[in-house]
Amino acid sequence: MFSKKNIVLKKNLKPAKKEKEEIEDDFAALEELKKKAAAAPIISANQKGKKVPELLRGFRDILPDEQPYWDVLRSAVKNFADAYGFERIDFPILEKEELFIRTVGKQTDIVEKEIYSFEDKGGDKVILRPEMTASAARAFINHGMLNQPQPVKLWYTGPNFRYDRPQAGRYRQFNQIGFEVFGSSEAIIDAQIIVMTYSLLKSLGVETNMRINSIGLPEARQSYKTELTAYYRTKKNQICEDCKRRLLKNPLRLLDCKIEGCQAVKADAPQVLDYLDEESKNHFMKVLEFLDEAAVPYTLDAHLVRGLDYYNRTVFEVWTAGDEGERSQNALGGGGRYDGLVELLGGREGTPGCGVALGMERIVLAMKELGIQPPVEKIDVFFAQLGDSARRVGLRLFEEFRQSGISVREAFGKGSLKGQLELANKFQVPFTLILGQKEVLDGTIMVRDMESGAQEIVDATKIVAIMRKKLETVRSLDK
Ligand code: HAM
Repeated sequence: MFSKKNIVLKKNLKPAKKEKEEIEDDFAALEELKKKAAAAPIISANQKGKKVPELLRGFRDILPDEQPYWDVLRSAVKNFADAYGFERIDFPILEKEELFIRTVGKQTDIVEKEIYSFEDKGGDKVILRPEMTASAARAFINHGMLNQPQPVKLWYTGPNFRYDRPQAGRYRQFNQIGFEVFGSSEAIIDAQIIVMTYSLLKSLGVETNMRINSIGLPEARQSYKTELTAYYRTKKNQICEDCKRRLLKNPLRLLDCKIEGCQAVKADAPQVLDYLDEESKNHFMKVLEFLDEAAVPYTLDAHLVRGLDYYNRTVFEVWTAGDEGERSQNALGGGGRYDGLVELLGGREGTPGCGVALGMERIVLAMKELGIQPPVEKIDVFFAQLGDSARRVGLRLFEEFRQSGISVREAFGKGSLKGQLELANKFQVPFTLILGQKEVLDGTIMVRDMESGAQEIVDATKIVAIMRKKLETVRSLDK
């Protein structure tokens, strides 16, 4: 890229000989540096004897080079939310503890083991939210959304906190995108949420399969729980210690256990579908028919019950196609119907709801595993300056370029040309502009084609138009 061949200089506009030589030397030195950098090990720079604070376990930084994945994801989510008529809502990260104990459930893993809760200075018991469906229901009631035309369709995104055992795709702080529909109990709502989820992930290049089940109404779940408990009692010596505890406290959670011996016991366990009332059965049949109609791939999972207490009827999980729990234990998302949630929080009786939440870290991970490359912003021009008078011109030129839609990177804070050229190389620009003392006096600027190494001196007052033309040629060649 930095080869010295084809250096074209307009005859009567040569920069001072010394300056020109220096520029060439710096380009040559950069080549050397690139070779060395490729061979050198990465050393983290910390001062001797000073302990650098580390991240908390299960927490992570999302570094600049991962951000293009997040940008693509966020922009797809916004497009889908708009297309499907969802309105954005944001909730506070800190909520009253009671909100989640009442909704997610006192005996669920999330509340029992995973919540970050503490007493604030005013003596309120507060919690770093572990999910956002309960917040959505609270907001729906708090802001009188029942008085709006129904259904009310909300979407949100943000961090959640669960004191989970960290592993790949499982963090203590993780981000979700969620879609919630309040005010309609129709089966088509459940189906449309699933169709939208499927299409959203497909648009990102991630093919999915839905695991789906119905857990009916609370009464059905109650009889099912009794049957399940009776069944597991007969298998008590075959299940793990955790499951023995679950058997006493929350038998539905027995079906979530991933331990091999417990999985074998689960295979013959009673199925909740056998306990459904007629209406729930019909509802479920309709959801499946809609999914068939929309050609969304799904698998019936008779033992899927989900780890949150507020669900009734439809429950589902989103898995990468070909990875329905075998390869990893990480669903990309989960959701279902929660017709009792608003009422449970003191809202109007019988307000139905249904929604989904997707784990953003897991989607980014899936995109990476599938080799999906997010588009990276292409920078058009690098501006290198030599001295304060060149910086002054550069500051003004930067604004002119920006306003005309040409993206520029610079290193105004650097003195040496070599240091600036290292950056030009990092940004992979097609052109570098070099402005030295002589060019400032002459009212000119040097343009270097980074591909061929060709250089020319042009009129600084016409630089924006000149670069626009050059970039058009480069872009048309790129196509
Ligand atoms: P959930 O299944 O607990 O459901 O979480 C939904 C998704 O959030 C998971 O499928 C996963 O992708 C992501 N997730 C959960 N825990 C972690 C973690 N520790 N690390 C990384 N990602 C994680 C809910 O949260 C419900 N509020 C979903 C819902 C919305 N139901 C109805 N509407």
